[in-house]
Amino acid sequence: MHIANYTMAMKPPWYNIKQYYEKDGCDGVLYDNLTINEKDHLCMAGMDTVELAQEYGTPLYLMDEERIINRMRTYKRAMSKHFGGTSLPFYASKALCCRRIIELAKAEDMGVDVVSAGELFVAESVGFPMNKICFHGSSKTRAEIDYAVGLGVGFFICDSEEELRRIDASAAVRGVRQSIILRVTPGIDPHTFAAVATGLIDSKFGLPIPTGQAREFTRTALSLKNIELRGFHCHIGSQIFDKQPLCDAATVMAGFAADMRDELGYSAEIIDLGGGFGVPYVESEAEIDIDDTIRLVAEHYKAEMSRRGFGDTAVFMEPGRSIVGDSGLTLYEIQDVKVIPGLKNYVAIDGGMTDNPRYALYQSQYTMLLANRAGERADTLYTVGGRCCESGDMLGEDIPLPAARVGDMLAVMTTGAYNYSMASHYNCVPKPPIVMLKDGKSYAAVRRESFHEMLACQFDDT
Ligand code: LLP
Repeated sequence: MHIANYTMAMKPPWYNIKQYYEKDGCDGVLYDNLTINEKDHLCMAGMDTVELAQEYGTPLYLMDEERIINRMRTYKRAMSKHFGGTSLPFYASKALCCRRIIELAKAEDMGVDVVSAGELFVAESVGFPMNKICFHGSSKTRAEIDYAVGLGVGFFICDSEEELRRIDASAAVRGVRQSIILRVTPGIDPHTFAAVATGLIDSKFGLPIPTGQAREFTRTALSLKNIELRGFHCHIGSQIFDKQPLCDAATVMAGFAADMRDELGYSAEIIDLGGGFGVPYVESEAEIDIDDTIRLVAEHYKAEMSRRGFGDTAVFMEPGRSIVGDSGLTLYEIQDVKVIPGLKNYVAIDGGMTDNPRYALYQSQYTMLLANRAGERADTLYTVGGRCCESGDMLGEDIPLPAARVGDMLAVMTTGAYNYSMASHYNCVPKPPIVMLKDGKSYAAVRRESFHEMLACQFDDT
């Protein structure tokens, strides 16, 4: 990425980074909520990120609340328009599970997808309607199943026959009939990175359609008295830009539903197509048009359903990353700059893999800027080293930045998803706060963790 230089005279007091890049013949990669102010500071949702870092400290996660709400509305609108009124997006809370985000999902009338008793507890703590929760996971424990059945969660997304029996037993004890949806794998390659591809036959999730195991799974579900089979689920992967695999998965799922009707006399009411829409982290990734992609997927789905003479079904989806990912950025302070002549330049930041393990895990690419010198020409390449005692603790390599100085503020874009939710306490580093920006004001949805809180389980007095 190249950030062109400018002179103060050329620059209007407020301008959009993306337009600015385009004006200079550079590919824009950033979002329309990011601007640079007259102090040359990066702003998000109109607020000066450098001032926010001074107020809240670093590392710091910032989230644009309005943008998150808009995404939720976009999904709701598009799904109801293209799949019909009974369809529903479930926010995949694994992307960012904190009470405030779940409250927003509640206010926007979405469902929520949880994958552990912990995520369910967060939803319960904000009074989220239990009938709009999907409980996922390939190894739910007995205790988690009992907790969720006891709360009356809307749907279990079941991964195995063993799990079906456990839910059946738990529901029997409570005298309820638990709604479930079966997770099946359509055998589709989503063209994303291996760690997040989940719809192939070789997957730890669900049971494959092509091998016939999904049909036997359905048969078992139909034979158990205390569970009610409501439909089928698939999720082919995450960070997907290619629309074809999404459309293919919808076609396969519609075909499978029709097969189960023809072979077992069972008509699914619900088809859940999972999540997976990508967001741009770097300039080579183009923003997905959510409405248009859902329209296309719905077209494939409906064509197959009508070809097979299947009546209306409710369709669920489970977006996570595309709800929160590009509404967040992280700020760090540069603690040191090291130049190894002829080899490499390093900047050392006050965070790293403890607040963002994605580069260490997947070599995920990020766009970075110096928030306090946001418009300066990025003419030097840096490896961004985290604070942990581990060489693999990096946020990126060969990142173009202006010649960096100690005390500069590094902004890493697109950290709203799978950052806070994947943060760790490695090296006893407390988790940063999540500060929400809305209507020119900021507030901490999650405050900075203290040492005492981080180590609470090691003290007797808490
Ligand atoms: N539904 C299911 C069943 C899933 O497994 C996932 C993500 C989602 C929905 C949401 O997918 P999304 O819309 O966010 O793509 N830690 C990885 C991502 C793992 C995704 C796991 N499942 C990362 O940092 O890229």
